[in-house]
Amino acid sequence: MIHSTRGPRAPRARARLSLSLPLAALAFSPLAAHAGGEVNIYSYREPQLIEPLVKAFTDKTGIKANVVFAQSGLNERLAAEGRNSPADLIFTVDIGRLSEAKSMGVTQPVKSKALEDAIPGSYRDAEGHWYGLTLRSRVVYASKERVKQDSITYEELADPKWKGRICTRSGQHAYNVSLIASMIAHKGEAGAEAWLQGLKANLAHRPAGGDREQIRDVHAGKCDLAIGNTYYMALMLKNPEQKPWADSVKVLFPNAKDRGSHVNISGMALAKHAPNKENALKLMEFLASPEAQGIYAQANNEYPISSEVAPSKVVQSWGKLNPDKLPLEEIAKLRKKASEIVDKANFDAGPSS
Ligand SMILES: [Fe+2]
Repeated sequence: MIHSTRGPRAPRARARLSLSLPLAALAFSPLAAHAGGEVNIYSYREPQLIEPLVKAFTDKTGIKANVVFAQSGLNERLAAEGRNSPADLIFTVDIGRLSEAKSMGVTQPVKSKALEDAIPGSYRDAEGHWYGLTLRSRVVYASKERVKQDSITYEELADPKWKGRICTRSGQHAYNVSLIASMIAHKGEAGAEAWLQGLKANLAHRPAGGDREQIRDVHAGKCDLAIGNTYYMALMLKNPEQKPWADSVKVLFPNAKDRGSHVNISGMALAKHAPNKENALKLMEFLASPEAQGIYAQANNEYPISSEVAPSKVVQSWGKLNPDKLPLEEIAKLRKKASEIVDKANFDAGPSS
């Protein structure tokens, strides 16, 4: 059964409130008799993506999956629940949230040959506290009309030739923090700081909105380049209002010819006190299997983590992703530093500050 404790736009405060509710009020249903038992999931990922995956799992194994969906506060909720937590698994996006779950002590290590075979080492925790399930790249969307070049590097975004022509969301958003952390890894702290200053100077306006709003602004002629995650292209193409935004841009995979484009993951972690550990392990292995990887590829147009499964047709139409090989653990370690240089550069104040 799928439960939602909060609406998609519910304010943060409600997540905090739920921490103080008695356990009986938690969103999982009372244990119903079910042939294969149950598994309980805390998910930051959206119902429309998770539902087909858990349905395929239940059909295959007879194990019932209960899901609590939220937009924030799940790590804190796990920490507050401690040993009494009903959660077996955490599903989330971004290396930041996965590594945070590990450092908060709400996960436990998993050793599984099936997971190690399916998931490359750079996309999982060396100790097994988290595993990546899908990849997304942070790419450049360029105006088809006004940008002639068909390749780009992240470094080039700081080139003065783009002055007043680049749009991005907040530098403090997890997606940009991870990208900036990768720049620290490749260029050193001083190099990344200088790059960020250069990028800031090239912004068309103050960072605001999500990734899609930046592409909207390219379509509107307010900027020529936007920074965004790959799957948003597919989402825009499916949305009648946003399709013209998508049609106005081409996808440029930065650094495709050298170190590769920055990638991040969505992933999973086993909760420290998982009451249904065996079932949780079965679900983890199922999610890394070709069957589930195919569902991820089609449902959300992310890149499967398993090399056995091809991306969806629309994703393939943008060209080939050459992912940066930098282990995500390295990025996780540099995120704090990245966030600090965003503040230091006063990045979110925009170009003229
Ligand atoms: Fe996103």
